[in-house]
Amino acid sequence: MKPLKEDLVQLGKFGRKKPVRIARRDHLDPEHGLTRLPGTKANKKARDYIVKRMEAAGLDVKIDKVGNLFGRMGGADPKLKAVLSGSHLDTVPNGGMFDGALGVVSALEAVRRLKKRGFENDRPIEVVVFTGEEGSSFRVGLLGSSVLVEKLRVNQALCLQNEQGNTLEEVLERIGYKGSYERTVDDVEYFIEMHIEQGPILHNEHIPVGIVENITGITWLFATIQGIPNHAGTTPMKVRQDALVAASKIVRLVNKRAKEMTTTLNSSTVGTVGELEVHPNTPNIIPGKVHLGIDIRDVRRENMNTLVGEVIEALRTLEKKQGIQVRIDPPITHLPTSLSREMVTTIGQVADQLEIANKRMDSGAGHDAQNMAAKTKAGMIFVPSVDGISHAPMEWTNWRDIERGTRVLTETLKNLSQKNNKTMWKA
Ligand code: GLV
Ligand code: MN
Ligand code: MN
Repeated sequence: MKPLKEDLVQLGKFGRKKPVRIARRDHLDPEHGLTRLPGTKANKKARDYIVKRMEAAGLDVKIDKVGNLFGRMGGADPKLKAVLSGSHLDTVPNGGMFDGALGVVSALEAVRRLKKRGFENDRPIEVVVFTGEEGSSFRVGLLGSSVLVEKLRVNQALCLQNEQGNTLEEVLERIGYKGSYERTVDDVEYFIEMHIEQGPILHNEHIPVGIVENITGITWLFATIQGIPNHAGTTPMKVRQDALVAASKIVRLVNKRAKEMTTTLNSSTVGTVGELEVHPNTPNIIPGKVHLGIDIRDVRRENMNTLVGEVIEALRTLEKKQGIQVRIDPPITHLPTSLSREMVTTIGQVADQLEIANKRMDSGAGHDAQNMAAKTKAGMIFVPSVDGISHAPMEWTNWRDIERGTRVLTETLKNLSQKNNKTMWKA
């Protein structure tokens, strides 16, 4: 098996219930995907594997204080800033084998190909693995890149706790990935991330490569609704304070308003209540407490804020009108981001030169490139997700498309790492 495919298949074993090699879509198990939360054993195995592969490729590997990994290939001109490329190795619970892993492996493969060709890069090239992109266990998405671009302080990140009450520092120490490297982006010129689209557009249009212009903004709202738990058989309907009935109003509102906004504003708005914990969660007790995790997105900041405002208002109204108590945690927001026009142009020209069909598009998923764009020129290459499925066990991208995307990434990295970018970008 070719190294690119082999690396993805190997990584696809770590975090699976049965660590089997999966190289074909019809071998996926629709019930069981990958769970590789930051700082877990599975996460360590994936990191160990990639570190070995980086070292085998001759890269100098360093680990920073929040576990971000950097595999560096020096450049011919020490005065030039670096080009970084990569993504993440953590997954959502029961997720797929390409989200994040593809961006890491394709960057590594691009470096291997350039080395094999004897290409001499002027700028240093670094393959990067960010810690905790998904936000699944520490509640803050884009964690590692937030620290790298100084949006979040190292100590703030290290003190974050997961569901088990362990801090990021503890779990990183446990798996041997609490490093000491102090890296900033002051010496970084470009960041490029290849990723699966995670939506249906490229698949439906049979286009192998997407070039991302804008990345959606994301707000996470966590709220707890406190009602009164009581006997389900003896408590009259009129006097109940059922926290789940109250929460269901919010679930419906988020869905209804997001849909309405897409029609009235022609917006990219999406709203999801993806997390619901019902306490005590048993048929014969009226739910006394419900915890909700709400995800609201739009590529326009004002639309995102509108819906967030409406949901907060609705939560407050529940409190006022129904005597139910509501706690709303401070929202966590990643702003919508436009990627570098230079990068969009460069990637487009490379894809055209390689005669690989491509289209410009926006991303409805969040990515570390979003953070990197605040401090560097950032770009993204998308490849199709079969049936638009992602964050689920059936996530799949065809090997042919992975190869096409990797060719675009390799040539783009080659151009960007030359002193004079050979594409035709004009500011
Ligand atoms: C990350 O994958 C996100 O968009 O939630
Ligand atoms: Mn991802
Ligand atoms: Mn993801």
